[in-house]
Amino acid sequence: MSKLSNICVLKGDGIGPEVVDQAIRVLNAIGHKYAHSFHYEEKLIGAIAIDETGSPLPTDTIAACHAADAVLLGAIGDPKYDDDPSAKVRPEQGLLGLRKELGLFANVRPLKIFDNLRHLSVLKPEQLEGVDLVIYRELTGGIYFGAKHRDENQASDLMIYTRPEIERIARLAFLSAQRRRKRLHLVDKANVLDSSRLWRQVVQDLAKEYPDVDVQYLFIDNAAMQMILYPSQFDVIVTSNMFGDILSDEASVLGGSLGLLPSSSFGESSRLYEPVHGSYPQAAGKNIANPIATILSVEMMLRDFDLVEEADDVLKAITHCIDQDLLTQDLARQDPLTCSQLGDEIVKHILQEVQIPSAALS
Ligand code: IPM
Ligand code: MN
Repeated sequence: MSKLSNICVLKGDGIGPEVVDQAIRVLNAIGHKYAHSFHYEEKLIGAIAIDETGSPLPTDTIAACHAADAVLLGAIGDPKYDDDPSAKVRPEQGLLGLRKELGLFANVRPLKIFDNLRHLSVLKPEQLEGVDLVIYRELTGGIYFGAKHRDENQASDLMIYTRPEIERIARLAFLSAQRRRKRLHLVDKANVLDSSRLWRQVVQDLAKEYPDVDVQYLFIDNAAMQMILYPSQFDVIVTSNMFGDILSDEASVLGGSLGLLPSSSFGESSRLYEPVHGSYPQAAGKNIANPIATILSVEMMLRDFDLVEEADDVLKAITHCIDQDLLTQDLARQDPLTCSQLGDEIVKHILQEVQIPSAALS
């Protein structure tokens, strides 16, 4: 693993810039505490990139991402495109294009429950007991990227998967299950879709190489229900691009807010970190968004680069804030903090620990 030094920053649209700014402050606090220097190169993506350059993914953005050790992304999307089905250029093309360009075939979306937020979950607190799962979502294939066709009267999106595409993500999921509670769920629609039957075949073949992993198979409709009824049964979930997109939004609210779920994406050589949530345009510029998902994405970044103590520090600071009810408005019972105030608190907690030894000495 290379050293974490150059980070390409893609703030994107909506609340993206606000949450990324807080994540960068956290990285800087870690840099200060542990004497690392992180260098940032900011580039455009999404609607803002369309406005400024005409393209949702300018070529210099792609080049900078390739050159960086890691990419930190905020969010993309703007309602002015969502409501216009005839728009030829769309912000999402920036994100999808970037995933494809960087070969980010694996998207890892972990869900942990913070104790002090249990009361905010849509589920009863007892249903949350033992919930700790991670979704391995295939990210560069399937219906997102298959051939598309549209005319006046007909439109189609091809859901296509090859054996190697399934195998490489499934292997990562098996390896993750081996490091965790040794249970893997393949989520598909093999009762209807041939592409899902291939997923099942490939996962069954691979399962022989991982005999210590208990493999279960679930149809997506049932999985969506099980996620609500009995989420603690899941350890590692592996699934296709579309099903993973839907299931991860569903899973994210179990913890109390979509604003809590981070993700990492990786392929052969690139790594990208982004919150699971979108650009939340209604909140843009108001300094009210929850930066935790993006800061937890930074935690995943630090951990992936073997900066374990640094990652633990970030997680401890976030847990501290949550435990102390230092929360943004999506979670606060009373007196919500702004996005940047929560950033202040997290940074303060990280740096406080630096000062304790020197204070103790004086
Ligand atoms: C996500 C998002 C994207 C996706 C959109 C913005 C294209 O919903 O990362 O989950 O569908 O992959
Ligand atoms: Mn999504």
